[in-house]
Amino acid sequence: SLNNSTNIFWQECPVGKVERQKLLNQKGCVVWITGLSGSGKSTLACTVSRELHSKGKLSYVLDGDNLRHGLNKDLGFKPEDRTENIRRVGEVAKLFADSGLICIASLISPYRKDRDACRAMLPDSNFIEVFMNMPLELCESRDAKGLYKLARAGKIKGFTGIDDPYEPPLNCEIKLQQENGVCPTPSAMAGQVVSYLEDQGYLQ
Ligand code: PPS
Repeated sequence: SLNNSTNIFWQECPVGKVERQKLLNQKGCVVWITGLSGSGKSTLACTVSRELHSKGKLSYVLDGDNLRHGLNKDLGFKPEDRTENIRRVGEVAKLFADSGLICIASLISPYRKDRDACRAMLPDSNFIEVFMNMPLELCESRDAKGLYKLARAGKIKGFTGIDDPYEPPLNCEIKLQQENGVCPTPSAMAGQVVSYLEDQGYLQ
């Protein structure tokens, strides 16, 4: 059901997704980037968005860290807060995809069930899960925000990868990882994502 309350209706708009997609010459979808803090999610999201833009395709980045300044400012990092964080972003991403845009969501989204719930929300399996499969040691060595250091010192509790779990995807569409101990460049990784979108007919 759409809502737990009574007297709530669903308003259908005469301009539909198919028409919007025709206008934009692309297919709406959600590219969901998951991985540890410091694994390069935001960099990848922005690089993919730039690449799509230069191809004349409209995309929009939903970044977990950024959304926590507004839409999700009431949420912390307890498991139930993360679950609600992912649920809300999943719902927003679904609206963006319905608008015809290529929505790039970039969140740690550490729990498999939460990501799977977002996938289940999207019609016609327009959910492309991208796993930044980077070793903890690499992410921790980057420590761009100094948060791993704080987590190791016990000053942040429940930090993903340290004392809170990260559950890797079992069936993601794209897995990005090191080759011979070297991380591919952001532009090479973005190229993989864009090629996938091209191959699957999202860019038409
Ligand atoms: S989640 O798990 O998907 O709800 O997290 P997300 O919304 O992506 O936010 C992750 C960023 O919040 C910072 N941060 C933490 N991350 C993990 N665990 C804890 N306890 C935590 N506290 C703060 C951190 O900077 C994450 O940023 P990224 O961009 O992932 O490095």
